[in-house]
Amino acid sequence: MDKPRHILRPGARPAPPKEKPAAVISAQPIPAPAIVAASVAAQGQLLDCFAAVPRGAEELAGAELGALGITGAQPGKGGVVFRTDRSGLYRANLWLRTASRVLVQLATFPCATPAELYAGVHDIAWQELITPEMTLAVDCSLRDSALTHSGFVALKTKDAIVDRIREACGRRPNVDTALPDVRINVHLHKNVCTLSLDSSGESLDRRGYRLERNEAPLRETLAAAVVALTGWDGSIPLADPMCGSGTIPVEAALMAARIPPGLQRRFGFQRWLDFDAQLWDSICAEAEAGIRKLPVGLITGYDLDAKALLLAGRNTGKAGLEGQIHFFHAALQDFHPEGDRGVVILNPPYGIRLGEEDDLRELYCQIGDIMKKRCRGWTGYVLTGNLELAKYIGLKASRRYVLYNGAIECRLLKYDLY
Ligand SMILES: C[S@@+](CC[C@H](N)C(=O)[O-])C[C@H]1O[C@@H](n2cnc3c(N)ncnc32)[C@H](O)[C@@H]1O
Repeated sequence: MDKPRHILRPGARPAPPKEKPAAVISAQPIPAPAIVAASVAAQGQLLDCFAAVPRGAEELAGAELGALGITGAQPGKGGVVFRTDRSGLYRANLWLRTASRVLVQLATFPCATPAELYAGVHDIAWQELITPEMTLAVDCSLRDSALTHSGFVALKTKDAIVDRIREACGRRPNVDTALPDVRINVHLHKNVCTLSLDSSGESLDRRGYRLERNEAPLRETLAAAVVALTGWDGSIPLADPMCGSGTIPVEAALMAARIPPGLQRRFGFQRWLDFDAQLWDSICAEAEAGIRKLPVGLITGYDLDAKALLLAGRNTGKAGLEGQIHFFHAALQDFHPEGDRGVVILNPPYGIRLGEEDDLRELYCQIGDIMKKRCRGWTGYVLTGNLELAKYIGLKASRRYVLYNGAIECRLLKYDLY
């Protein structure tokens, strides 16, 4: 077997991406054991990547990659496979609104026993990626495989990595699960192991603008997916009458103002040995130059809860959108949108706790009434995890999208309001 080469060789400028569709990870032919890193390097520094995406938003993430000029992205269940160069990897992390992390695949190999796992991981020249002074962490996910204990697989993977580095350097790196320099992802599916570097580090839904959490905030990636599914393009008003901490208005505003969701945060790849600071600075500078101010009244949010609105205001400021979203302390029952066109998005309470559903039926009836009577000409969307309650809206949805809020299966229901 060829000696595995460093896929992210320090200083090496990547070649422009070729328009070759990336293979779906689980459908790849698996040589035994295959170090994918070596073949990627030979093809001109193209990286096989996987963007993990909340279920239901895979096509959106594929379209986002297309908009970044990354062609051939293949959406699958829970993520998108794509191939790009280092610049594309940085831009994907900075710009993807619907993805939770971007993994760079190092190797795949058959793996049904602890010995196969250890050997496959040990085969990689980890000393080229991690020095003894750096820290590492291993994340693990398993599906339909002979090895069933994720803690054990993560530990065995870590052992093989540090052993390889100790053999090469005489010393081993330490583990830091909170803020490691390099985060490694090991995924077992049907006895095939895929080893990846996590280029994002902290999950991408941590944009950096949310300082405190209210009771039931939407995940930022899901809020971005909701806005994208509405097709809203910033040319007509967008209102969220139950905005809570403002996740939907903030994500909509970031899109309309062309602010990359990751502009305020740091990424895993910035701690890698091959981090190209000059390239990264130029990507950020280009993004910053494209930011625009939003017109007054374009995006509005309302809520009954004054505390949640306080958070919404703080999040807006922290997101670099000070004064560009207008929040009102008002009940849905007083919602009267201005203008004859717009998009209204509601994320009402689901009533997860016992007894809450009774109170919420009335609220869902009112949502239907208010959309029908006061939002003529607008398009309405309701995101809910409770399909029983959704029936009380009493209007016929023209489209239904399935999305997941963590483990909760939700529907985004579309209403054409004539
Ligand atoms: C599921 S939470 C929305 C969470 C929000 N999308 C976020 O990311 O923070 C539902 C919100 O509806 C608000 N709400 C409940 N009844 C309301 C009413 N009658 N009028 C206005 N807001 C209401 C609650 O205060 C809560 O903030």
